[in-house]
Amino acid sequence: MSHNTINYAHRGASGTSPENTMAAFKRAVELGATGIETDVQMSRDGMLVLIHDESLKRTTGSEGMVGTTDYADLSQLDAGAWFGPEFAGERIPLLEELLELGKQHSLTINIELKNGIVRYPGMEEAVIAAVEAHGMEKQVILSSFNHYSMVHCKQLAPNIQTGLLYMEGLYRPWDYAISAAADALHPYYPAAMPEWIAEAKRQGVICNPFTVNDPDVMRQLIKAGAAGIITDYPDRLAALLAEEGA
Ligand code: G3P
Ligand code: MG
Repeated sequence: MSHNTINYAHRGASGTSPENTMAAFKRAVELGATGIETDVQMSRDGMLVLIHDESLKRTTGSEGMVGTTDYADLSQLDAGAWFGPEFAGERIPLLEELLELGKQHSLTINIELKNGIVRYPGMEEAVIAAVEAHGMEKQVILSSFNHYSMVHCKQLAPNIQTGLLYMEGLYRPWDYAISAAADALHPYYPAAMPEWIAEAKRQGVICNPFTVNDPDVMRQLIKAGAAGIITDYPDRLAALLAEEGA
């Protein structure tokens, strides 16, 4: 059986390299990822930067918040050393650096807008402008836990896919996705029940569960018809997809 499941490296190959750095994104490509998931936020001066937490502390050791720091200062921080000394000197990338890499390697880029806690006015417009500037409308899927933001994105750019992130068992989630004009559901994987994935697909709504690191769960989700799987270990998923004749 042939599968076209997209192998999304979660924050890059974050199981083996520092999340959301160019090292992690490049490593993901080497390990067989066909997609990359990343988290985008805005600097104080409106630059789109790739970092998961609103606070700089965990991945850079620096005090302060992404949204109240200018890009000139963010660009000086070390986002690699916390993971291991061999990664010292890795920086917080700009979204456009990842889009370049994605274009070069024909990757699908899942841009998660981290606008649930800090709203970042103008972020949707800025992300869409960056995607359009790279001509990557067909190679990108936007996602967020903030579903109002996804509705806004769909209004701004109907030709760019949107996905709704969520944690627990929604009932008939495809109905909800359709009500928000979304193309995809991005559930935390225990909420991605094999019995509804096929039904959602029939209704035109694809499913990309996160974050799946166990090969047995990956296998079940591929069989159930997941369009993509978001994993910290793209090598594990690549091996499985090769085995299953993707
Ligand atoms: O987009 C999937 C996943 O990244 C959502 O959760 O916290 O890892 O960004 P988080
Ligand atoms: Mg994310």
